[in-house]
Amino acid sequence: MNNEQVIIFDAVSKSYPLYHHITGGFKNFLFHFPRAVSQMKNHQYEALHEISFQVCRGETFGIIGKNGAGKSTALGLIAGVLKPSKGTISVKGRVSALLELGSGFNAELTGRENIVLNGVLLGLTRVEVMHKMEEIIEFSGLGQFIDQPLRTYSTGMMMRLGFSVVSSLDPEILLIDEVFAVGDMEFQKKCMDKLESFKKGGVTIVYVSHGMQTILQTCDRVIWIENHRVRMIGSAQEVVSSYVDAGL
Ligand SMILES: Nc1ncnc2c1ncn2[C@@H]1O[C@H](COP(=O)(O)OP(=O)(O)O)[C@@H](O)[C@H]1O
Ligand SMILES: [Mg+2]
Repeated sequence: MNNEQVIIFDAVSKSYPLYHHITGGFKNFLFHFPRAVSQMKNHQYEALHEISFQVCRGETFGIIGKNGAGKSTALGLIAGVLKPSKGTISVKGRVSALLELGSGFNAELTGRENIVLNGVLLGLTRVEVMHKMEEIIEFSGLGQFIDQPLRTYSTGMMMRLGFSVVSSLDPEILLIDEVFAVGDMEFQKKCMDKLESFKKGGVTIVYVSHGMQTILQTCDRVIWIENHRVRMIGSAQEVVSSYVDAGL
């Protein structure tokens, strides 16, 4: 690991509009439309508040925190799927992301067709996906299910498919949103081995998980997000023990 910073968050805030927050009822909303709209704009929900951190090239960086803390929002911002409301973000390198389960999948398409769809969404050409197809199917261990529509898959099977596509890529920065938890032990082991080989290959990894054991095993440093703010940044050991001590 060197000290080149490849991900820099500088006082980043992300707000979502609170559309359901229509105060005086819907009729009132329509009659006072301009005012209602400006009122809505003022009703923002802040999912992240002035978050600053840096990740160095080749580092494995964990993000922990309770549900709703803002972890997935942080990953979405790194991936460029979301834009910050305030602050600046700098990301240097080719990003591959395994974000929330099932995003980028289509339930009516087969596993095989979804590999193509996902590969293309992740920046490969169709021909590139075809070249990697057998390797991806092999890694997924889905066997004959690969030609069944995705709606027949369990969450574990969808996770297998998603990770298999991502693991066939050649990322510089890899983002993973707590997906391993739903798989069986054998596949989890396979994923961890794959992560380990990405690490050895110098890939920068940002990893969201509730599994403190995995965080300790894989991460160099960890950020703990609480109530949409940075509670702590430090070595995995240090942050995980404070988190566990806090009884979360
Ligand atoms: N698209 C959205 N629109 C409105 N609110 C959102 C949206 N996505 C997330 N939120 C809210 O932002 C907060 C942080 O969400 P998220 O980043 O998904 O948290 P985590 O991944 O830590 O569970 C949550 O309170 C969530 O309800
Ligand atoms: Mg999340």
